Amino acid sequence: MKINIKILSELFKTNKSEIKNFCSHLVKKKIIFNYIKGEERDKVLVDILKRIRLDSQIIAGKGRTEKWHNGWGEALSLYKKSNSLTPKFYTARENKYFRLGGELIKSRSPNFEVEMVNIYRNWYFRKYLKNVENIYEFGAGTGHNMVELSKIFPNKKLYASDFVSTSVDLLKLVSKKKKLNMRCFQFDMIKPNKKLEIKNNSAIYTSGALEQLSGKIYDFINFVIAKKPKIVLHVEPAPQFYDTSKLVDFTADFFQRKRGYTDNLLEYLKKLEKKNKIKILKKMKSPFGSLMIEGYNFIAWRPK
Ligand SMILES: C[S@@+](CC[C@H](N)C(=O)[O-])C[C@H]1O[C@@H](n2cnc3c(N)ncnc32)[C@H](O)[C@@H]1O
Repeated sequence: MKINIKILSELFKTNKSEIKNFCSHLVKKKIIFNYIKGEERDKVLVDILKRIRLDSQIIAGKGRTEKWHNGWGEALSLYKKSNSLTPKFYTARENKYFRLGGELIKSRSPNFEVEMVNIYRNWYFRKYLKNVENIYEFGAGTGHNMVELSKIFPNKKLYASDFVSTSVDLLKLVSKKKKLNMRCFQFDMIKPNKKLEIKNNSAIYTSGALEQLSGKIYDFINFVIAKKPKIVLHVEPAPQFYDTSKLVDFTADFFQRKRGYTDNLLEYLKKLEKKNKIKILKKMKSPFGSLMIEGYNFIAWRPK
C-alpha cells in the first residue's frame, strides 16, 4: 500500500481537500507499507513485550539532565560536520516496523516515521498557525520543527528554547547558519520563568517535550494560560488515547507507563476546560507511531 491523500485524511480526521492543500507536495514521494499479519505480527508483538521486560530507562530519572546535555552536545558536533538535524531518537529504526492507525505495519523505508512526522506537522502547522505572528517552541531539542516552520512561514517570528545549554547552542548555530528569524533561549518547563515575555498574537508549541517532565506539567500549563497565547499545540504521548482492549495499543500503553512518560496532560486540560479556563479545540489519537509507542497525539487549545 502507499500513503495517499485518502489515508491521510482518515488518519488526521479531516477532509481530503485540506490534505491536498497542505501536504500533497510531500505525498508525491512514494511511502510504501503493508499491515503485518499472522506469525509475523505475533513475532513482532512478542519482541515488543521482550523489549518492555528488559527496558530500564526511566523518564526524568536521575541523570536525565546530563543525558540530554550530552546528547545535544553530540548533536551539535554532528551538525557542525554534517548539517544533519534529525535527532537520533528518530533515526534508529532499522527494523522498519511501525504503528499506523493503531495497527502494526512494515515499511520499506527505515525513515517512515520521519517522513510521516513531516507530513503531519505540515498539516497541523498550516491549519493552526496561519494567523499568528510569533511561534514559541519549548523543549525544542535540535530545532528541526522550527526549521520546517521557517520554510512554511518565512515571515513569522520564531522562538526556540530548551532546558540544556547544549541544545540552546545548537539552536543558535542553526538559526545563524540558516539565517532564520529565530531567537533562542534557555527555559526549564518544570520551573517556568514567569518573567519571559510572550508577545501578542502568539502560538505555543511542544512536541515530545512535556512527555519528559514525568507529570510535572502544572506550573508550565498555568504559565501558558497566564501568557494568553492565541493557540497552544501539543504533540505528545498520552496513554488516555490508547484502546487497551486491543493488544497493539496495550503494548504501547504498557511501555509508556513503565518508562514513566508524562500521563496527566489530557486529564489536566480537560479539568481546566471544565473550570472554563481553556477551550480544547481538537484532540486526536496519534495517527502513527514508532514500533514501541504512539507519541504524536495532537491537542490544540486556547486560554479563555
Ligand atoms: C524527545 S525530545 C523532543 C525535542 C523536539 N521537541 C522534537 O520534537 O524533536 C525532548 C526535549 O525536551 C527537552 N526537555 C526535557 N526536560 C525539559 C525541561 N524540564 N524543560 C525544557 N525542556 C526539557 C529535552 O532537552 C529535549 O530537547
